[in-house]
Amino acid sequence: EALDVIVVGSCMTDLVSQAPRLPKAGETIHGHKFFIGFGGKGANQCIQAARLGAKTAMVGKDFFGDNYIQNFKDNGVHTDFVGQSSGSATGAASIIVNSAGENAIVIVAGANMLLGSEELQKALPAISHAKVLVCQLEISPQTSLQALRLAQKNGVKTIFNPAPAIPDLDPDFYRVSDVFCCNESEAELLVGSPVANVEEANQAGQELLKRGCGSVIITLGSQGCVVVKTQESISKHVPPTPVMAVDTTGAGDSFIGALAFYMAHYPTMILEEMAHRANQVAGRSVQAAGTQTSYPFRDDLSAELF
Ligand code: RIB
Ligand code: NA
Repeated sequence: EALDVIVVGSCMTDLVSQAPRLPKAGETIHGHKFFIGFGGKGANQCIQAARLGAKTAMVGKDFFGDNYIQNFKDNGVHTDFVGQSSGSATGAASIIVNSAGENAIVIVAGANMLLGSEELQKALPAISHAKVLVCQLEISPQTSLQALRLAQKNGVKTIFNPAPAIPDLDPDFYRVSDVFCCNESEAELLVGSPVANVEEANQAGQELLKRGCGSVIITLGSQGCVVVKTQESISKHVPPTPVMAVDTTGAGDSFIGALAFYMAHYPTMILEEMAHRANQVAGRSVQAAGTQTSYPFRDDLSAELF
């Protein structure tokens, strides 16, 4: 049976410290809580899509990742394409969250970087029959690009999330993205000008669109997001639903996982509406600590979202 969503991407172990503020260089500060969680942008996006009801598979690599594979299974994600490797350490993310719910993250991708053509070939039958493929940049960029190309060649809709952003992004990434979705700081790095408000996001979105993607979504945290489409010359601002942020870590992944779900389940829905609904799903995630631990299930959400 064909998949709704296949994610080619990262699995990370999140090491999270909550502190009153982010430390400065050379400084030690006291935090008040520490926890370990399942993270990684790829896995996060896959799990959010699965929790909304999408039939999903993950293509990834982890270090002897038995407990990570179990986490996928617990969330109903197909794991035949999650490889285990002893050649490199597990991907790890050191995360600090301040009292405003903002974060700073350092990732060491480890085993995620070993994901390559061999694994993609093995997953090709699943990739070519999926409705939507999602990629990010926590694995080797060449592997992401290859996955996106395979999807495009097979008529599978693609979502590319250039996160974390790299300044010298291969221009082919734009051409293989049906939806190119990034946050304000990633957009800023890619276009080389500030993206701090809706107007600047409109301009950045138009510039990214010119590079060849089908549509662009720039997420703006508490300011919602901006949607730019090829068929229309104007950008649309999708306003947020205001919420009290406890921890915004992984909210962008919740948004993308939800977007992938909507693209797979409601292929004729307009992109602004999908973004509006994905905003509400991600809005729930910022109200609890952690990434996957805070992602809502279909039953936690209003029936109007489905
Ligand atoms: O986007 C949030 C994610 O980024 C975290 O789960 C962490 O693993 C990092 O990859
Ligand atoms: Na959260």
